[in-house]
Amino acid sequence: MHAPVVIIGSGPAGLLLSHLLHVQGISSVILERKSRDYVEGRIRAGVLEMGTVGLMERVGVDARMKKEGIIHGGIYISLNGKRTHVNIEELTGGSTVMVYGQTEVTKDLIAARLAHGGEIVFEAEGVSLQGIEGDKPRVRYLKDGNMVEMTCDYVAACDGFHGVGRKTMPGVKELEKVYPFGWLGILAHAKPVADELIYAKHDRGFALCSMRSETVVRHYVQVPSSDKIEDWSDDRFWDELRTRLGEEDAELVNEGEVFEKSIAPLRSFVAEPMQHGRLFLAGDAAHIVPPTGAKGLNLAASDVHYLSEALIAKYKNNRSDLLESYSDMALARVWKAERFSWWMTTMLHKFEDDDHFEGRIRQAELQYILSSKAGLTTLAENYVGLPY
Ligand code: PHB
Repeated sequence: MHAPVVIIGSGPAGLLLSHLLHVQGISSVILERKSRDYVEGRIRAGVLEMGTVGLMERVGVDARMKKEGIIHGGIYISLNGKRTHVNIEELTGGSTVMVYGQTEVTKDLIAARLAHGGEIVFEAEGVSLQGIEGDKPRVRYLKDGNMVEMTCDYVAACDGFHGVGRKTMPGVKELEKVYPFGWLGILAHAKPVADELIYAKHDRGFALCSMRSETVVRHYVQVPSSDKIEDWSDDRFWDELRTRLGEEDAELVNEGEVFEKSIAPLRSFVAEPMQHGRLFLAGDAAHIVPPTGAKGLNLAASDVHYLSEALIAKYKNNRSDLLESYSDMALARVWKAERFSWWMTTMLHKFEDDDHFEGRIRQAELQYILSSKAGLTTLAENYVGLPY
């Protein structure tokens, strides 16, 4: 079996790449370790940059997103109970973001890929790569107990942080920062707290009020890395959320049935370079951002934008220069998003040294940002996403 491009992983990066190639007449096969149900059930963030929305439009998978997604032209930042509106649309000269869950993006992309005859092999186990330094890489996997071997021209590893892609790359440099806390997140049937997202810094820690629709909310509170889900009853969660929002906004919190609760650790991570021979990394396989700022999915989308352009230039015009410079192009944008996510995380969370010099500096920085047009503009232009 041969496919021009083998894509490992059917998350948004792999799926979007497969679609972007398909609309240019380049075929690919996606190998996914998990089942379709599992992939479609994973809960992730929910804010799309306009660039990401544009890619969904380009591949024609935008109908449900346009109908159900909610356009936001701003966010709120709350500091110890006092809320400031950041009018992103005005500060950026008209840019907005789209609130639409990554889970929905994934479902839409899978349905469309299959509807167009695309091949996604779910439950492909034990994927291994050989010959990525030559011109005919081989990909092996187990399906229903049988070993399958494919050849291809290129391999795109969109297989996440724990994937086989990065592990197969020799000499990759990994740069990492692990934060001493996580986010406890819930999904609940309730009305949103406000018309836009609220990012709250409080002496007791960070909180975020987000939403999936007019009737489903996604809320988070910062918790120590050692906390377990059993430590957090629904009542404790709602109480803590209200406390961190401050008295006035606490009144606006609508409680509802909690139907999902999980804790995610926070990490910043970058692998350099993002390519070796005929193997290319995209999305979480190459980098992780902490969720403050909602850049994870959007970075995966910009990676596959660069990678698809490079592959298209190769197949259509026999030009290899874009493939050769893929890692440099992608990393330039990755590092800027890493910086923004780290900055938002650092400024908005509670750290051990809050009561020392560095902590006071972080608080002063947030106060400065919120009081300055220049400060708000730098936040806004990063939040909506830097240009590709
Ligand atoms: C979410 O809705 O899950 C969400 C929104 C904004 C963030 C992170 C997560 O910065």
